[in-house]
Amino acid sequence: MSRTPSPDRIAEHLRLLREDPQSANPPGWRADFSDGPWPVKVHQGGERAPATGALARVLRGTVAVTAVRGPSKTLRRAVPSGGAMHPTEAYVVLTGSDRLCHVDPYRLELLALPGDSPTRRLRQGLCLAADAPLPAVVLLLTSRFWKNFYKYGDFSYRLGAVDAGVVLGRLLRLAGSEFGAAWVRTDFADDALNDCLGVDGRDESVYAVVGCGPTVATGGTDVIGRPAPPPRVVERSRRIKRSPVFDMVHASARSAPARAVAAGAPPAAPVAASGAVRAETVELPPSLAVDLTDEDVIVRRRSGGRQFTGRPASPAQLATVLGQAATAITTLRRRGGPTLPEITFCTAVHRVPGVPAGWYSYHNGRLVPVGRGPDPDLGPYLQGALFGSSVNAELAAFTVHTVASPRQAGRSARHYRTQQLAVGVAMEAVVLAATAVGLGNHPFLGFDAPAIDAAYGLDGQGSGAQAQICVGVVRTGSEWEVTVRSR
Ligand SMILES: Cc1cc2nc3c(=O)[nH]c(=O)nc-3n(C[C@H](O)[C@H](O)[C@H](O)COP(=O)(O)O)c2cc1C
Repeated sequence: MSRTPSPDRIAEHLRLLREDPQSANPPGWRADFSDGPWPVKVHQGGERAPATGALARVLRGTVAVTAVRGPSKTLRRAVPSGGAMHPTEAYVVLTGSDRLCHVDPYRLELLALPGDSPTRRLRQGLCLAADAPLPAVVLLLTSRFWKNFYKYGDFSYRLGAVDAGVVLGRLLRLAGSEFGAAWVRTDFADDALNDCLGVDGRDESVYAVVGCGPTVATGGTDVIGRPAPPPRVVERSRRIKRSPVFDMVHASARSAPARAVAAGAPPAAPVAASGAVRAETVELPPSLAVDLTDEDVIVRRRSGGRQFTGRPASPAQLATVLGQAATAITTLRRRGGPTLPEITFCTAVHRVPGVPAGWYSYHNGRLVPVGRGPDPDLGPYLQGALFGSSVNAELAAFTVHTVASPRQAGRSARHYRTQQLAVGVAMEAVVLAATAVGLGNHPFLGFDAPAIDAAYGLDGQGSGAQAQICVGVVRTGSEWEVTVRSR
């Protein structure tokens, strides 16, 4: 693609982010690791208070730093993130006291920000009436672009949206259980919400808003007086680079709700895998009972890397992972509205006794062979479709692909962004359900999507593989890890 921004090439650029992500950056593009950002957004000064109770439990399972790993001292969190960049920031509006806070993921503290009537501005951004009831706690998720961009360049537009979706999926799961109810909005006036948070929308922008708990008629009395002196953001990087292509796509996605919703027909479900359907449909057994809000499960999750052993998984484990993934998407659409995109699931089964190795489409407890169908060589095929060699995917027990319609997403950059959020929600459910049934897992965007489409018989337009999660038995990794506990 030409490096000269041209609005009529946005759809083509977004298509390439899936089909040929390695072409997203100009030839010779390099990350400047010596000038990278800090792994958390750092504020200096301001008033802080520890997050407590239900909010603390929700934040600990979503954005909080939970561990430090290996000689590179990578800050790990309860959710996976491409390259462990964790570009998703969380902000809280406490509507009863009309307070705006940034979540410090390192200290699990709430840092008071000098928001001017944040509850009123939140309502404006969400296009709600001035007296519309809101829950006591509203969380806003942003993507902080430089954290991802410095390493992945223009590809980070896609990666950042999926990453935010992973956090969103976890947030909905935990907010629902901790606060009793949760809703999500992805259609809002971006500029109004960015102003409410005091962020420059070109550098960091709201991607999702989650209401936690039942709505209450709260006036949101304006805060008199501001935290003094207000906190200041401190950057490690001396130079924050910009990309005309990234900026153009992001600006195009920052449309107001009316435009975002009005553009085009309501999204349809992705077209089912179109390859010749083989006869042997597999009925999976009932799912296992799992609790995906269990903190032990949440902190146990990690990406398996090269630790897959080649040992089998049971059909019930497979059924549970796929069932939980489908439930997460149903829940997302129930809480966010039917305009949120549909995601379906395909799976390449390598080692599940009773399920012939092959390529399947998942339908409510059943596996339908599609595309290449039964395929004893699918392990090497999957391995060959990976861009890197850091994961031994062929020794997984099964690999899940989240499927969505590239054509639907191509209608506007906002549709694309919203679809990638939903892809992240599905990814979160797969990795957590796999952990809950005692299996290791590793999520990917770095794979050859057209090769995977071909294996399933997907057409790559009405439906295409968006993300990949390998699941299987793993051995313990050799890197050291220290758990971080909140004070
Ligand atoms: C959206 C997303 C995309 C990812 N893509 C890749 C990938 O292409 N290749 C890879 O090896 N790991 C990928 N990962 C896994 C991350 O590298 C991993 O989550 C990160 O290093 C943090 O480690 P942890 O998951 O063990 O906490 C991805 C994770 C996410 C959430």
